[in-house]
Amino acid sequence: MLAIIGGSGLTTLSNLDVSHREVVRTPYGEASGPLVFGQICGQPAVFLPRHGYGHTIPPHLVNYRANMWALAHHKVSGVISVASVGSIRADLEPGDIVLPHQIIDYTWGRKSTMFDGNGTPVTHVDFTEPYDVDLRRRILAAGRQLSIDIKMDAVYAATQGPRLETAAEINRLERDGADVVGMTGMPEAILARELDLSYAAINVVANHAAGRGSSAGGIRFESLGHVLNEAMGQVRAIVEKLVGSPDNCQPLGMSV
Ligand code: HPA
Repeated sequence: MLAIIGGSGLTTLSNLDVSHREVVRTPYGEASGPLVFGQICGQPAVFLPRHGYGHTIPPHLVNYRANMWALAHHKVSGVISVASVGSIRADLEPGDIVLPHQIIDYTWGRKSTMFDGNGTPVTHVDFTEPYDVDLRRRILAAGRQLSIDIKMDAVYAATQGPRLETAAEINRLERDGADVVGMTGMPEAILARELDLSYAAINVVANHAAGRGSSAGGIRFESLGHVLNEAMGQVRAIVEKLVGSPDNCQPLGMSV
């Protein structure tokens, strides 16, 4: 069973035929909300909106450990993390779908390991390749089958938020080698690795990053909804192709 974590622009997964919801008790406190179980085209899947069902949990306050523990507890076979980003690289435009392959972490003060407290031995986990190669390949293949152009090999910069960056910060991220910027990719990715969960991200470009392109004069985040909505429709299609069995794609009953 694959898990999908939805970010801004994907607080519901309308192609999930919901069977039940479950509040998971975790050693780390509350997850962002109950896990929503169901089927996508006849195949089991589980959905969790990262920012909560009312989109009220800001990036720095997401309980990433509880979220990932809850999914690991249900022995999911992999996690697809959907998140909106700002584009730094010039060829990435609002509405583009991006498959990052690397991460630079600028976040601070977040609980970023499962290995602490209560005499837990110090554990150093390999993170050379932060995303699961096979899951990335499956996402790409699904996009290809749907003729959806997925931009490859982007370096994702995880910033603290919830404020957006300054133009100078974006210049610095570019010098560091970052192509897109978002606020939630870490510590989610490393916690997945520590829990031995296959994990890959699908990023949707919501805006040019601060000081770039259409954001040269500032970013009006509220006005980005329509770009995200359209692209999230494509993300849902990719997820459906990847998770579902084609013979079972029927009109849906209840949706989240
Ligand atoms: N910066 C950080 N996170 C984001 C952005 C951005 O420009 N757009 C969407 N998420």
